[in-house]
Formats: sequence, C-alpha cells, structure tokens
Amino acid sequence: MAKLVNCLILPLLAALAVVLLPSSSKAQPPPPKSQLEVLLQWKQSLANQSILSSWVNHAHDIKNSSTPSTSSPCNNWLGISCNKAGNVTGIELPHKGLQGTLELLDFTYFPDLLHLDLKLNRLTGSIPPNIGVPSKLEFLDLSTNSFTGSLPLSLANLTKVIELDFSRNSVTGELDPRLFPNGSSPGTTGLINLQRLLLQDTMLGGQLPSQLGNLKHLTILALDNNNFSGQIPTSLGNLINISYLHLNQNQFFGPIPRNFGNLSKLTDLSLFANQLSGSVPKEIGNLSSLVALHFTQNKFTGHLPQQVCQVAGTYGYIAPELSYTMAMTEKCDVYSFGVLALEVLMGSHPRTLISNLTSLVDQGIQLQDVLDPRLSPPTTQKIADELSSIVNLALWCLRADPKSRPTMHVASELLKMQAGEKKSNQ
Ligand SMILES: *[C@@H]1O[C@H](CO)[C@@H](O)[C@H](O)[C@H]1NC(C)=O
Ligand SMILES: *[C@@H]1O[C@H](CO)[C@@H](O)[C@H](O)[C@H]1NC(C)=O
Ligand SMILES: *[C@@H]1O[C@H](CO)[C@@H](O)[C@H](O)[C@H]1NC(C)=O
Ligand SMILES: *[C@@H]1O[C@H](CO)[C@@H](O)[C@H](O)[C@H]1NC(C)=O
Ligand SMILES: *[C@@H]1O[C@H](CO)[C@@H](O)[C@H](O)[C@H]1NC(C)=O
Ligand SMILES: *[C@@H]1O[C@H](CO)[C@@H](O)[C@H](O)[C@H]1NC(C)=O
Ligand SMILES: *[C@@H]1O[C@H](CO)[C@@H](O)[C@H](O)[C@H]1NC(C)=O
Ligand SMILES: *[C@@H]1O[C@H](CO)[C@@H](O)[C@H](O)[C@H]1NC(C)=O
Ligand SMILES: *[C@@H]1O[C@H](CO)[C@@H](O)[C@H](O)[C@H]1NC(C)=O
Ligand SMILES: *[C@@H]1O[C@H](CO)[C@@H](O)[C@H](O)[C@H]1NC(C)=O
Repeated sequence: MAKLVNCLILPLLAALAVVLLPSSSKAQPPPPKSQLEVLLQWKQSLANQSILSSWVNHAHDIKNSSTPSTSSPCNNWLGISCNKAGNVTGIELPHKGLQGTLELLDFTYFPDLLHLDLKLNRLTGSIPPNIGVPSKLEFLDLSTNSFTGSLPLSLANLTKVIELDFSRNSVTGELDPRLFPNGSSPGTTGLINLQRLLLQDTMLGGQLPSQLGNLKHLTILALDNNNFSGQIPTSLGNLINISYLHLNQNQFFGPIPRNFGNLSKLTDLSLFANQLSGSVPKEIGNLSSLVALHFTQNKFTGHLPQQVCQVAGTYGYIAPELSYTMAMTEKCDVYSFGVLALEVLMGSHPRTLISNLTSLVDQGIQLQDVLDPRLSPPTTQKIADELSSIVNLALWCLRADPKSRPTMHVASELLKMQAGEKKSNQ
C-alpha cells in the first residue's frame, strides 16, 4: 500500500515540479546586491563604455593581493564620490558622451546620494520614476540630454534639492502643483529648499501652478522657451529672493503682476516673445537691482516706466516701441551690445555672470567660462585670441557704471579693427 502511494505521489510531485519550475525560472534575475553591481549593470547598458574604464570590479583580484582591498566604486571610479561609510554620495559625469538610458541606474540603491550631475550627455528614455527615492539629494542636473516623458511626481520627495536643472530635454506634460510646497501646510512636501529651478528649452506646457510662488528660497527661475500658457501667477511676486526670472518664449498672456515691483533683488527679467498685454506696471520702476530687461514681442501698451532706465542706469534690450519716449543714450546701447555679444558666445543669457561681473573681472575671467559648452572649444590660438578680445570688449560694455563704458562708436571701431586684422592676416 505504501509502495503504491509512493508510486502515485512521486510522479505527481514530478509533474508538479514541471508545472512550477518554469514559472520560477521565468522570474527576473535576482536583484543586484550592491551599489557596485548596480553601477556596473548601468555601465553595461551604455553604448560607449570606454570613458568608464575605471569602473571595474576588483573583487576577483583579492586572492592575488597581499593586502586585499574590498572592491568598491569608492576606489577612484570616475565621477563617483562616497561618504566615510562607503556609500555613494555623488554620481557626477557631465559632458562624457554617455549614450543610453537610466533604466538600470536604480536609485533605490543610493539612499545617500547628494549630487547627481549627468548634464551634456546623450541620454534618452524617461526620467526614472524612483528619482525621488534618494531623498537627501541636493543637486540634480540632467540638462542637455534627450530625455522624454513627463516629470515624475516622486520629485516632490526631494525636499533637500537646491538646484534642479532639466533644461534642453524633450520632456513633456505640465508642472504638477504637488511638486511644490503646499501653501496651507508649507515646509513638509515638495521641492521646499529649491533655490535654482531651470527648465529651459523643453516641451513642457500648460499653466504654471500658483504653488511655484511658495518656493521662497528661489533665486533663479528659468522657464524660457517652453509651451507654458495662461497668466503669469501673481504668486511669483512672493519670490522675494529671486534675481533671475526668465519666462520668455512661451504663450503667457495677460498683464505683468503688479507685485513684481516687490522683487527687490531682481537683476534680470526676461519676458520677451509672449502674448503679454496691458501696461508695464510702474512698480517695475522700483526694481533698483535690474541690469537686464527683455520685453520685446509682446502686446504691451503705453510706455516703460521712466525709472527703469534711470534707476538701474542701464538696461538689457528693450522693444523699440516701448523705448521711444526714453532718452536712448549711447551707453544704454553699448550695454545691450555687451549682453548680446556674451549671449551669442555663451549660448545662453549671461545671467549670473553679469551680477558677478566685478569679482569675475578681478579674478581674471577665463575664456572657457564664457564659451557655449555645447560647442567644441576653439581649435587654434588665433581663434581663441579673437574670441578673447570680443569677450573683453563685451565685459567693458557691461560695466556697472555707465560712465566707465565705451561709447558705441569706440566699441564698433574696435570691432572693425579686429575684422580688418583678420582680413589682412588671411
Ligand atoms: C567612445 O568614447 C571615446 C571617449 O570618450 C571616444 O573617443 C570614442 O570616439 C567613442 N566611440 C563611439 C563609438 O562613440
Ligand atoms: C596578479 O596580479 C599581477 C599584477 O597586478 C598580475 O600580473 C597577475 O596576472 C595577477 N594574477 C592573477 C592570477 O590574477
Ligand atoms: C550605506 O551605509 C550604511 C552604513 O552607514 C550601510 O548599512 C548600508 O548598507 C549602505 N547602503 C548601501 C546601499 O550600500
Ligand atoms: C520618498 O523618500 C522616502 C525616504 O525618505 C522613501 O522611502 C520613499 O520611497 C520616497 N518616495 C518616492 C515616491 O520616491
Ligand atoms: C495642501 O494641504 C491641504 C491640507 O494639508 C490639502 O487639503 C490640499 O489638498 C493640499 N494642496 C495641494 C495642492 O496639495
Ligand atoms: C534670501 O537671501 C538672503 C541672502 O542671501 C538669505 O540670508 C535669506 O535666508 C534668503 N531668504 C530666503 C527665504 O531664502
Ligand atoms: C502648446 O500648448 C497649446 C495649448 O496651450 C497646445 O494646443 C499646443 O499643441 C502645444 N504645442 C506644443 C508644441 O506642444
Ligand atoms: C507687494 O506689492 C503689492 C502691489 O504692488 C503691495 O500691495 C504689497 O503690499 C506688496 N507686498 C509686500 C510684502 O511688499
Ligand atoms: C513702488 O512704486 C510705486 C509707484 O511707482 C510707489 O508709489 C511706491 O512707493 C514704490 N514702493 C517702494 C517700496 O519703493
Ligand atoms: C558670485 O559671487 C558670489 C560671491 O562672491 C559667489 O559666492 C558665487 O559663487 C559667484 N557665482 C558665480 C556664478 O560665479
């Protein structure tokens, strides 16, 4: 009897095993065990791994070494930094030609990550939904890649992030209000510590949530060249520390909020190429720190407040139809030229550069600080020298004190001389 039962049960178990085993072998490969393995798996997924040649697993060398060192990404791996506990705190690989996705860079394995800088690569796919898991993150720059999809809501978890830059990607969708601090219960969720938010040249659109105005530490808000629409939220007038506000090249309509006159630290306000209307509030004349103002290609009526030029002593670029009542001094023109020349060379508005000009000139500004990082550097010394003299001329035109700027005549003579030299050298 027992034998009979065995005879029946064994085949039954075998049959069950046949049924059960394939389903367990169909399961995903076992999850990676360490930060090292996650990083190596991500490396394996990239098209060109030569730049990451320092990312190797030395574990198999241990037997060979008299002082066996545990293999760790903290041992001189390019772009990886760690804390004393041996946990990864930084993944910083800007401008390295990385090609691939972030699919295998599982952020749940990097709870201590503080810095993530992957700007200027050729990364595609979506921004991983678990990007919000390393909740200590302070710096997050994925700019100038080819990321698509929408901004993951888990970003709202990053309450420590100071700078967030997703500029120059093909991300789509709208800015979810839940990404930002909630006015009625502030200080708990959202990007509450954000100081610099840069979303330039993306495919984001829709209305700006008024919660943006709860980012009270914000100094830079760059939302230019997107598809944002609707009115500019009045709440942006609460951003008392903001110095750089770019909303240009969107679909904004309606008036400039009157309370923008409260933004006493604003140095650079750019609203050009929108559908803004109404008169420019006279409170804008209160903005005594303004050095650059860019209002063209809107539907404003009336004149710019007289004070704008008088108080700032200067301005960036102003629509001809708005400036005709003002005395356009040559020094104002030459300033605009300076801004424009630097903008062309840098590939973006010279924002912080302008506010820091004095200290930078004192330190001796380097050409590579100014040139557009997306272009290859000058190939010959002669080209580098020519660019240097244009940079120097632009910086001269941007001096804070109008009296110490060259006249437009002198500036154009200097440019002509350079062009002449170039011709005679060829
Ligand atoms: C891979 O990267 C190296 C170093 O960055 C570069 O020299 C090489 O041209 C790249 N190869 C390909 C196929 O992209
Ligand atoms: C041991 O290390 C030496 C030098 O680092 C290397 O030349 C050798 O091939 C290694 N041997 C093994 C078995 O890995
Ligand atoms: C991070 O460090 C802690 C010790 O501080 C350790 O317990 C933990 O396993 C580490 N995490 C990872 C993912 O390596
Ligand atoms: C938010 O951060 C916590 C750790 O502080 C983490 O456990 C959680 O998974 C994160 N949530 C999201 C949606 O990323
Ligand atoms: C803000 O918080 C309040 C109460 O905590 C909640 O009722 C409301 O839905 C929140 N608003 C947003 C936009 O999250
Ligand atoms: C505004 O800036 C000043 C000076 O940098 C700083 O002391 C202050 O804490 C900032 N305020 C906020 C709300 O971030
Ligand atoms: C821009 O937004 C408008 C709605 O405001 C929409 O109709 C249009 O398709 C969007 N354009 C792009 C290029 O996303
Ligand atoms: C901001 O500006 C508005 C309108 O210009 C004014 O009524 C308000 O009192 C100002 N708020 C602060 C905090 O200065
Ligand atoms: C702001 O501008 C308005 C109108 O130009 C003026 O009445 C007001 O006193 C100014 N406020 C400050 C704080 O300068
Ligand atoms: C501008 O100057 C301040 C103070 O000198 C400095 O802390 C900051 O890093 C400078 N910013 C840039 C972009 O150079």
